[in-house]
Amino acid sequence: MTYFDAQYTIHTEYTTLIGNISMKTILVVGGAGYIGSHMVKMLLETEHHVVVFDNLSTGYRDAVLGGDFVFGDLADRASLARLFSGYQFDGVMHFASFIQVGESIIQPDKYYQNNVACTLNLLDAMVTANVNHFIFSSTAAIFGEPQYTPIDEQHPKNPINPYGLSKWMIEQILADYDRAYQLKSVCLRYFNAAGADPMGQLRERHNPETHLIPLVLQAAKGQRENITIFGQDYDTPDGTCIRDYIHINDLCQAHLLALDYLFTYQSSASFNLGNSAGFSVKQVIDIAKQVTAKSIPVHIGARREGDPARLVADAKLARNQLNWQPQYTDLKTIIAHAWATEQQVNL
Ligand code: UFG
Repeated sequence: MTYFDAQYTIHTEYTTLIGNISMKTILVVGGAGYIGSHMVKMLLETEHHVVVFDNLSTGYRDAVLGGDFVFGDLADRASLARLFSGYQFDGVMHFASFIQVGESIIQPDKYYQNNVACTLNLLDAMVTANVNHFIFSSTAAIFGEPQYTPIDEQHPKNPINPYGLSKWMIEQILADYDRAYQLKSVCLRYFNAAGADPMGQLRERHNPETHLIPLVLQAAKGQRENITIFGQDYDTPDGTCIRDYIHINDLCQAHLLALDYLFTYQSSASFNLGNSAGFSVKQVIDIAKQVTAKSIPVHIGARREGDPARLVADAKLARNQLNWQPQYTDLKTIIAHAWATEQQVNL
């Protein structure tokens, strides 16, 4: 089944629900980044009017494949006010945050300024403009060290780094904004977003790159000497950390369904998004070797601060309440899509 077939299936299965969200005007904050740019593409394909607001601090203008582009910064309340007076948005998706756990420990100010204070500016602009539907990019990092696994939505929230705490703060602020201003939100807690556009038009581009799969593929390409495994003395079968990798398109599909949920039910919710299958760092490298048919030199390094041994999602709630049906659950496919785009020089 191709990507477009998959889209079609979902349309026919959820005609009523999709009917609620056709032809909306959606503001995508951070639409030039990795997840945001894939989201913009999917919104355009499902015939929404898209407006991207991005300061290009980590994103790329050429990753925005359509819609209107507004260059701007969430720190600048005046430009947000202009943005909201220029369009009548039906919903807002917010991807513009800093995401590096290690950096957040060294520079917490950067994370609280951007991920908390700037998000508040955005929420206040929404309240002023009477825009009431918000999709928030949250993270598995809000849970901290898992007390049980797989991790469901009720799992205690004990973030162990400023990045995770900044996201959890916003989740709690959103609950207050719902009570006080009837701003309805869906918080989507991503586990490990991975892969790339199956059509090959977009890829994961971070600078510097810190994520496992792109780094492994760069080692396969010979662009870096090796991949360092951060610790092999964890309490897991092969001693390396286990993560739940979720295809970027499945993640974006969940955002579309979350919008749909907001428009249909007019109530706030939170969902964990993952495949409920854990893969160790060594397993990821082995699969990448199969996909690329290249040798991938490995260096065993020390543990990285703030890495829990095992993060695997219980995503039953999203499947049941959003009718979310991930299409690309096989890690080999996820890595194959990443590899196909990683090799394109023009992306
Ligand atoms: N890893 C290595 N070597 C590397 C890079 C990563 O061994 O060079 C390991 C990490 O230690 C971890 C796994 O590969 O065990 C995955 O690491 P990533 O950096 O790719 O992803 P994380 O699990 O650290 O982080 C992701 C998101 C964060 C989010 C977090 C939630 O990128 O934004 O999941 O748990 F907060």
